[in-house]
Amino acid sequence: MARLVIVSNRVPPLKESGPMAGGLTVSLEEAVKRRELLWFGWSGESSDRREPRIASTGNRTHAVIDLTAQEHKLYYAGFCNGMLWPLLHYRFGLAQFRRAEEEGWRAVNRRFAEQLAPLLREDDTIWIHDFHLFPLAAALRDLGVRQKIGFFLHVPFPPPALFAALPRAAALLRDLQAIDLIGTQTAEDAEHLSDALRREGVSAQVGVFPVGINAEAFGRAAAQAASRKDAQRFRESLAGRELIFGVDRLDYSKGLPQRVLGFADLLKRYPQHRGKVTFLQAAPISRGEVTQYRMLRREMDELVGRINGEYAEVDWVPLRWTTRPIQRRTLAGFLRMANIALVTPLRDGMNLVAKEFVAAQPPEDPGVLILSQFAGAAREMEGAVKVNPNDPDEIAEALDLAINMPIAERRERWRMDYDRLAEAGASGWSRDFLASLNRAEFSPSGEGAWK
Ligand code: G6P
Repeated sequence: MARLVIVSNRVPPLKESGPMAGGLTVSLEEAVKRRELLWFGWSGESSDRREPRIASTGNRTHAVIDLTAQEHKLYYAGFCNGMLWPLLHYRFGLAQFRRAEEEGWRAVNRRFAEQLAPLLREDDTIWIHDFHLFPLAAALRDLGVRQKIGFFLHVPFPPPALFAALPRAAALLRDLQAIDLIGTQTAEDAEHLSDALRREGVSAQVGVFPVGINAEAFGRAAAQAASRKDAQRFRESLAGRELIFGVDRLDYSKGLPQRVLGFADLLKRYPQHRGKVTFLQAAPISRGEVTQYRMLRREMDELVGRINGEYAEVDWVPLRWTTRPIQRRTLAGFLRMANIALVTPLRDGMNLVAKEFVAAQPPEDPGVLILSQFAGAAREMEGAVKVNPNDPDEIAEALDLAINMPIAERRERWRMDYDRLAEAGASGWSRDFLASLNRAEFSPSGEGAWK
């Protein structure tokens, strides 16, 4: 089978594998296992070094480049996370457009193309990931690259009228014409993107490919993790109380203020639960160099302090809040122990925590997933208790329902979701996408044909 070339902004460590590796690595594992792979992207570091660093193990090669401090500022902190991220998550009010950042973003995409092109072979299949790299395929075509190029958007795509608010949105959409197949997480995202493309007269093939997980392997790893020392220590500290658990990057798309307010409403409106539940919210700091993220951190620190100040007893802290990084293995153990998972993003492409919680549950005594109706995972997780994450009162009601849910109903809801996850598996996603890409009829071969 010909080589697969993955391009993404972040590249995982070369040796990472197994169910405890990061999201994209796990999801790609099957495709990666059987094929020769080149993975190209940003090293995560800033320096003036230009040349890629290349390392291999087995049939896998990683090539990474550093960004200069200025490139990092304009491309990553600026246009990607200060403009595109809020826009794609329907939060135009938080977005800041600066023309210099958009130009810096384009320049970094051109640099990716220039440094990747010499590494390519004629029969490679190229698969680009996520919004950071929207113009990369077009930049590669400009350099004469004629191989098949697929693109997967991991985040939502907003309605076209909202997307049109982005200055030079048309140019961005026209660049997507260079791609043979674009994948999205949900039918809604595909519809929005197709509409936006149609309005610009761009013809591109868009398909829906929801990212999955290896439920069985994750479940096994979570059960093991739950018997480790750190998990035991945590369990003891709960002193028999029910555990409500949330884990998200500290990101305004995750609905964290609404979520902790929902928990506060639970304590206020259903005082019978006071002293009987503990809510652990882990929110490792993310994109701390971006203003909107720093503001969220301040807001959350204050909110959590206020809620605990109002409800804590000398021997019970209702809300445990940590912004420190936590190992995935530790998290898996906590996911298994949790009686309730609160996954309430205001908007999310998929949300794998929702799926991992289901995979981690003990079948005989499964917990309850409370899930935002605006997470991509809500399309598939039919057994979850769905909420509108904008309404703290609705979150409080869902929590009360989940705490009181009889075991038979918990088992029934969990079984439905677990079976669905197990059936879809992790490998289905990359297999289906790559098979469709292979078949994609619109192939922009020939000089300049894609324009
Ligand atoms: C989301 C995006 C990914 C990104 C991840 C972490 O899941 O879809 O592309 O890698 O967040 O964000 P970061 O900015 O740290 O890469």
